[in-house]
Amino acid sequence: MAYGGYSYTDLKYKPDPKNDFVVLFWTKSQMNIEKTAEALAAESSVGSWTRLRTMNNVVWEKYRARVFWIGKVSAKSGFIKIAYPIEHFDVKNLSQFQASVLGNVFGLKELEELYVFDISIPKNYQKRFKGAALGLGGIRKLVGTEKTKRPHMGTIVKPKVGLTPKEWANVAYKSYLGGLDLVKDDENLVDQKFCKWKERLNEVVNAIEKAEGETGQHHIYSSSITDKQSRMIERVDYLNEMGLNKKVIVMLDIYILGLSTVEEILEITRKYKFAIHGHRAGFAAANRGSFGVNFQVYEKFYRLLGIDQLHVGTGVGKMEGSPLAIKRLHELAENFSLKEKLYFGSLEMEFEKNIKPILSIASGGVDAGKVDAIIALHGKNTNIQAGAGVHGHSGGTVKGAISMKQAVEAVMKGVAAPEYAKTHPELSQALKIWGYSDPKEIYKEIEYERKNYKKMTLEALKKGRAGVIF
Ligand code: 3PG
Repeated sequence: MAYGGYSYTDLKYKPDPKNDFVVLFWTKSQMNIEKTAEALAAESSVGSWTRLRTMNNVVWEKYRARVFWIGKVSAKSGFIKIAYPIEHFDVKNLSQFQASVLGNVFGLKELEELYVFDISIPKNYQKRFKGAALGLGGIRKLVGTEKTKRPHMGTIVKPKVGLTPKEWANVAYKSYLGGLDLVKDDENLVDQKFCKWKERLNEVVNAIEKAEGETGQHHIYSSSITDKQSRMIERVDYLNEMGLNKKVIVMLDIYILGLSTVEEILEITRKYKFAIHGHRAGFAAANRGSFGVNFQVYEKFYRLLGIDQLHVGTGVGKMEGSPLAIKRLHELAENFSLKEKLYFGSLEMEFEKNIKPILSIASGGVDAGKVDAIIALHGKNTNIQAGAGVHGHSGGTVKGAISMKQAVEAVMKGVAAPEYAKTHPELSQALKIWGYSDPKEIYKEIEYERKNYKKMTLEALKKGRAGVIF
């Protein structure tokens, strides 16, 4: 079956992990799946809707995509794997890759659903990326947890916007006093009139210094600088002039900014040795419906570009994402490959050794009662952040922060939170307000997936996208 005069299907083709990209698509369309596969391969590589007088052998042999696997669910829907040769791409330009494979194809009018579950990025393409400047190990060093290897604890000052710099810094101070490592701006707070960025920054730095004298801990601040590029650069320059790379992490709304802008800012922050906090606000706006891309794909891009700590969801909090999907995102942050090749949705891919592991961030609807479950999913290499779960505590911000600290202490001692709460009133109060998420449920789900992945793969092949947990 051809599309635009050519056939891109070669079911015998074996992709080369060093030089081929592999993309796993889910699709449902008005055309037969075989034709859709051809259309996707054509539009995302060298072809178009009709035969080209300008096509030649070099283009066809060297640069075309190849459909090498189709997992049919019905005549018009199913999973498709397409391989793309590295020569097809501008290897110094991730946005160009995005425009090819995650670009025009999404607009083809016959498509009713198109979802990219995963992309495997070949080693020779990864080589030109630097990865994180600090990464997991560097962030641990910054906070002082290389030895204990405990999870990091953070908060987002609430209300999201509206507080003056002094009010904001006072909430931050109380959070540090309660023992939190990190305080961060919300994704929608940058430089509003009522809370100018520079003023807030200066107040928070004072709060950190004051708190450190009392807690003996090292505290950090994720400062949101998302804006047009020139203003972001001014802010990073200012942070550098103030010598703040041990106290401040640069926070970016990375999805909203786009890959090329993020890359530009990372070149500067890397030079100044600042870590980057990646917030994924906006991702769901484009990727929750019938058309979209799995966050796992962006996580790979961000890891190549050099984000040091990245929001990946919680699996138990207020944001979407099944526990198992979130577990995968966490694993992808801290390992060189997904250890468990379970089930649909993951392609084999290994990061190059220079692409450092990064710290995952569990944030969104978190409180002390969810810490056990989050660690069951994320492991201990994670930063657990609670906004309302700290500032909504009936004892106020300091006690809210203490409740989070106690929950993490409990995990480190191997004691379940309800047991630890018997002798820790702040934790006990948090559990009374918000309840307890039992990690046993999470372990059960994980165990189920481990045992039943073959069955789950077959189910997905029968049900389609709905049968895939992520
Ligand atoms: C975030 O930045 O992740 C959210 O603002 C989290 O806020 P919450 O802890 O109050 O849900």
